[in-house]
Amino acid sequence: MMMGTKLVTLLFILILTLISVPFSAAFHVGVNYGTVANNLPPPHQVANFLKTKTNINHVKIFDANPEILAAFSGTTGISLTVTVPNSDIPSLSKLPKARSWLSNSILPFLPETSIRYIAVGNEVIATSNKTLIGHLLPAMESLASALHLANVTGISVSTPHSLGILSGSSEPPSSGKFREGYDKAIFAPMLNFHNRTKSPFMVNPYPYFGFGPETLNYALFNSIDVVVVDPVTKLNYTNMFDAQVDAVYSAMKRLGYGDVDIVVAETGWPSAGETNQTGVGLEYAAAYNGNLVKHVNSGKGTPLMPNRVFETYIFSLFNENLKPSVSEQNYGLFKPDFTPVYDVGIMKTDQVRLY
Ligand SMILES: *[C@@H]1O[C@H](CO)[C@@H](O)[C@H](O)[C@H]1NC(C)=O
Ligand SMILES: *[C@@H]1O[C@H](CO)[C@@H](O)[C@H](O)[C@H]1NC(C)=O
Ligand SMILES: *[C@@H]1O[C@H](CO)[C@@H](O)[C@H](O)[C@H]1NC(C)=O
Ligand SMILES: *[C@@H]1O[C@H](CO)[C@@H](O)[C@H](O)[C@H]1NC(C)=O
Ligand SMILES: *[C@@H]1O[C@H](CO)[C@@H](O)[C@H](O)[C@H]1NC(C)=O
Repeated sequence: MMMGTKLVTLLFILILTLISVPFSAAFHVGVNYGTVANNLPPPHQVANFLKTKTNINHVKIFDANPEILAAFSGTTGISLTVTVPNSDIPSLSKLPKARSWLSNSILPFLPETSIRYIAVGNEVIATSNKTLIGHLLPAMESLASALHLANVTGISVSTPHSLGILSGSSEPPSSGKFREGYDKAIFAPMLNFHNRTKSPFMVNPYPYFGFGPETLNYALFNSIDVVVVDPVTKLNYTNMFDAQVDAVYSAMKRLGYGDVDIVVAETGWPSAGETNQTGVGLEYAAAYNGNLVKHVNSGKGTPLMPNRVFETYIFSLFNENLKPSVSEQNYGLFKPDFTPVYDVGIMKTDQVRLY
């Protein structure tokens, strides 16, 4: 009798350990909570849904909407990335403005709302707007100083970039470099900032924008065979996501900053598009995002960055009905009523199903 009870208890503990360890220890996937829609649920419902029904522990928003910041108050375990709108960048390059923005927009919500990053603008280099680009790093510096002066620790400052920051000849991955004219002038000082302030470099890789008829499976993480061999490093690539992230890493390393952390601030795949679009649909979106979640949480990193983990934010939490095109309206993991468009292994119930 005793032996039997002990054995059952031991087995029970073993099973519990097997179930809980891989998840609690290794969930690095977040979502972008975009709100270009007129049918989304109120922020407090969204916060409650994410907390109680999903394993999502990072949420990125495209503004500093006070209603959203308040809604995530007390949601232990979920941390936010808030975004400064591009149009505010020039004024925030002045320290007094950065300090008042911080006092008005962020400090009232601390510490009940957990804020991890302030993203200064979104894909600013891609705007080609010289005023914005010229004020970007000064605004990042001012906000970092403002945080320091307010004695805030635990929030770091960054800015997400599109892959357009790389020069056209960034294939194979080891040849990745920043666009000429931007490398020394923009990225060297920016990476110096990241290295000094221990903040990550944020990039938005989208294999969806990079695939062709021959490379759809490679883009979806569905190739079993090696698809690209980097002739310089002899490393094998089986998916385009790794190749894109490694190209960014090569560009950073070329400037001496290979140790700066990388955060994947956006990536995703639409579940619907125009009728004439190929590679767009539910099964493709489910494949890309599902494989992405597994890949990121495996902790195996990329060929050039083995075993490095990149916090990765899927675009997007919801389908957004006011975006301009059908495909842009259909990046969401969820419909506005919280029903999943498809499941990618982020629901709490998935833990049970996987074992
Ligand atoms: C650049 O951005 C600033 C700030 O948003 C804006 O006022 C200006 O009109 C933009 N310039 C161009 C050429 O678009
Ligand atoms: C920050 O901390 C310093 C020393 O600990 C203190 O003198 C200062 O008043 C604090 N500033 C704020 C804004 O809390
Ligand atoms: C790359 O794949 C080839 C097979 O296609 C294999 O022979 C080679 O050992 C692999 N290289 C590495 C570094 O894993
Ligand atoms: C990055 O920062 C470390 C100190 O944390 C320093 O040793 C290193 O030289 C810096 N890298 C560059 C390229 O400046
Ligand atoms: C697809 O259809 C849209 C209109 O629905 C059209 O504007 C676009 O040019 C078409 N693209 C191709 C590649 O045929």
